[in-house]
Amino acid sequence: MQKLSIRDLDLKGKTVFIRVDFNVPLGQGGKEIRSDQRIRASLPTIQYALEQGAGVILASHLGRPKGKRNSEMSLAPVAARLSELLGRPVKMAGDCVGAECQAIRPKPGEVVLLENLRFHPQEEANDAEFSRQLAGLADVYVNDAFGAAHRAHASTVGIVSHLPQAAAGLLMDRELEWLSRVTQNPERPCVALLGGAKVSDKIEVIQNLIKVVDQLLIGGAMAYTFLRARNESTGKSLVEEDKIGLARQLLEAAGGKIVLPVDHVVVREVKPGAAHEAVSEIAPDQIAVDIGPKTIERYAEIIRQAKTIIWNGPMGIFEMPPFEKGTVELAKAVADSGAISVVGGGDSEKAIQSAGVADKITHVSTGGGASLEFLAGLELPGVAALHDRAA
Ligand code: 3PG
Repeated sequence: MQKLSIRDLDLKGKTVFIRVDFNVPLGQGGKEIRSDQRIRASLPTIQYALEQGAGVILASHLGRPKGKRNSEMSLAPVAARLSELLGRPVKMAGDCVGAECQAIRPKPGEVVLLENLRFHPQEEANDAEFSRQLAGLADVYVNDAFGAAHRAHASTVGIVSHLPQAAAGLLMDRELEWLSRVTQNPERPCVALLGGAKVSDKIEVIQNLIKVVDQLLIGGAMAYTFLRARNESTGKSLVEEDKIGLARQLLEAAGGKIVLPVDHVVVREVKPGAAHEAVSEIAPDQIAVDIGPKTIERYAEIIRQAKTIIWNGPMGIFEMPPFEKGTVELAKAVADSGAISVVGGGDSEKAIQSAGVADKITHVSTGGGASLEFLAGLELPGVAALHDRAA
């Protein structure tokens, strides 16, 4: 059944508690915001609630302060940035529960940002009393924090049973819509591009995606565990020795759908600007750091034919020039394909930004772990907890 959406709620004169994911990358000391993408992504929901005449209370985690107050993980810089983006004041609360917060009742059109939920251990423990206190601040609940929907915490799950209505925000709706569209009955050919360091991080994703896609292109260091499973030489490239058997099983289960690199950019020492060459066979003292030009061409050709593309994870050590080439070239191929393209958060999102093609991607997810769990076919607790729309 479809979940209740913020558009189904009557927000006029109400106080709405919006769980957002403002877990943004901060510079040293926690003052400078390195990417405000997650703040920008939450603007449509906040603006919608304000236009509907609600007073808005925003709540988020930031980092992993382990249940203790930590000034380097304060949301205060986020409140300042949000205020600039919204063009109206955003009041920063000193905490997220307690006497000061109980007195907060934003008037219609006002926005308050609560301090980091994870300063309290009860947030991650999904504590019932803490959930009740958060719920007591508002009349209705909206979850727009797709990036935290795989966490069963007080602000994503526990709070829901203490308020009469719990709905998805506009970002949450959009994330679920696109991720569902590409994994349930996608337009074909449907191609997934999976990268990253470890097979072990993506086992469930691979198991689920081979049921959905027509071809699954693998890059990044995880390709080398698969190549070893095929008895190919991998030199000193990163291989998860204990996952070779599993990689072999996945290759068999995929029945030819898994496509592996045919050449590689290799170095003898992993460092920026290291001497490198492209090879088809990796020598014993070589380390693969990116997919090679023939693989780029082969993968780009498959991408050009695709009608649906799902991408998660870089093709090489893309943060270390010049080993970003495979990732950047494929980002451009995805952008130029005209296919419906959904890119999972984290590193793939950075790659899309550095290739300068974000505006040509159908949907760039704000969720890292959450989008992976979705692609693995798992239920996200923060979504499951939301109220169903009446039939
Ligand atoms: C993320 O950045 O993936 C989310 O904000 C979740 O953060 P967490 O992994 O610390 O729970």
